[in-house]
Amino acid sequence: MRDAYIVSAVRTPGCRRGKGALAQTRPEDLLIQALNGAVEKIGLDKGEIDDVMIGCAFPEAEQGLNVGRIAVQMAGFPDSVSGATVNRFCASGLESIAQSAMRIMCGWSEVAMAGGIESMSIVPMGGNMPRPHPDWSKKNPDVYVSMGITAENVATRYKITRQMQDDFAYHSQMKAAAAQKNGLFTEILPTKAFKFTEKKDGTYVREEFIQNFDDGVRGDTTIEGLAKLRPAFSALGSVTAGNSSQTTDGAAASVIMSGDACKKYGIKPLAKLVCYVTAGVKADEMGVGPAYAIPKLLKKVGLDVKDIGLFEVNEAFASQAIYCCQQLGLYDNKAEWSSDSDSRRININGGAIALGHPLGCTGSKLAATLIANMQKKGVKYGIESMCIGGGMGAAALFELCQ
Ligand SMILES: CC(C)(COP(=O)(O)OP(=O)(O)OC[C@H]1O[C@@H](n2cnc3c(N)ncnc32)[C@H](O)[C@@H]1OP(=O)(O)O)[C@@H](O)C(=O)NCCC(=O)NCCS
Repeated sequence: MRDAYIVSAVRTPGCRRGKGALAQTRPEDLLIQALNGAVEKIGLDKGEIDDVMIGCAFPEAEQGLNVGRIAVQMAGFPDSVSGATVNRFCASGLESIAQSAMRIMCGWSEVAMAGGIESMSIVPMGGNMPRPHPDWSKKNPDVYVSMGITAENVATRYKITRQMQDDFAYHSQMKAAAAQKNGLFTEILPTKAFKFTEKKDGTYVREEFIQNFDDGVRGDTTIEGLAKLRPAFSALGSVTAGNSSQTTDGAAASVIMSGDACKKYGIKPLAKLVCYVTAGVKADEMGVGPAYAIPKLLKKVGLDVKDIGLFEVNEAFASQAIYCCQQLGLYDNKAEWSSDSDSRRININGGAIALGHPLGCTGSKLAATLIANMQKKGVKYGIESMCIGGGMGAAALFELCQ
């Protein structure tokens, strides 16, 4: 089988649902900028792309109707470039990279794109009209349970205390705030956004502006402040707005090529996608997914946790991220993940608690972040992983090209 190389990977900023900078910008308008940004970064002719896979967790309404194809057309790609929408909930953006990479690996494509989009402001989590199956939901309600309750289940079953969750959340915020201050989010594409402002006569005008930073980061977070927050999902629970991922709007995209195509276009690859796996787990504790997916991935490629220089483990909730790090032997030594450690390997510039989790975009967003960090640090192997609603985990291994 051939190798598949990521040659470009970018993301829009991640901005808060409803209250943030991208809340009034349609998802297609975000996605087309990510697609064009990824291609323009390497000076590739859009017509050279064979197919585009776009992850989306709630592909309906403004981000429905096969947004993967619509965005390709809106972005000015020629009609010959096809597009599809891929859904594996929170892993959709990584699934899209894997699917495009697999086509390169088996020789069906030479140049493909992948990406993800989610406007959680415009299409709510759960969709506009959820319709659980009446018989199945009686028999197995866990499949439809709220993600927050799954996080509470992980906390209770595996004794992840409120203090542990708040401490983890605090460090996520501190890492993100420091990275923002030091300009480390080089994978961010300054993004054109819109807002509607009311005029004196009661009509609205659409204004355009550029957003170039993640607007959910709270650099003033304190452990004491986090401790005061009320549980968000269960009155006696421990999962709060402060130790959960933020609901966020964002898009991301990457270009993937065969080795022959890299030579043909004179493009230097950034990283190779070595392997991608998924694992099924119990739906009512879906957050444990990475604790199964990462070992499965490592076994397949014959590597050990110690061989991996950087991890992006999506922080859907602190409780599940902590549990997964514990299972990998990466939690007890706080130097692996805390903001004051120079040797940290986990979510080195913060995670979704601070930077947000735009569901179907997250897999592509984290790939862009991970690859940028691998390049900066000269790290050979990086793993990206996340839990997935319905009870799954996904994990991918990237190898640096230098
Ligand atoms: C938990 C959740 C319901 C909170 O939603 P929300 O109330 O809109 O959250 P916000 O981020 O606006 O925070 C609410 C308030 O909490 C407080 N807060 C949040 N983070 C804080 C922090 N780090 N320090 C201090 N206070 C904080 C603030 O008072 C904030 O209000 P403000 O924005 O006006 O300052 C929502 O983030 C959520 O559902 N997260 C999980 C998403 C999910 O399930 N994803 C899929 C995973 S598989």
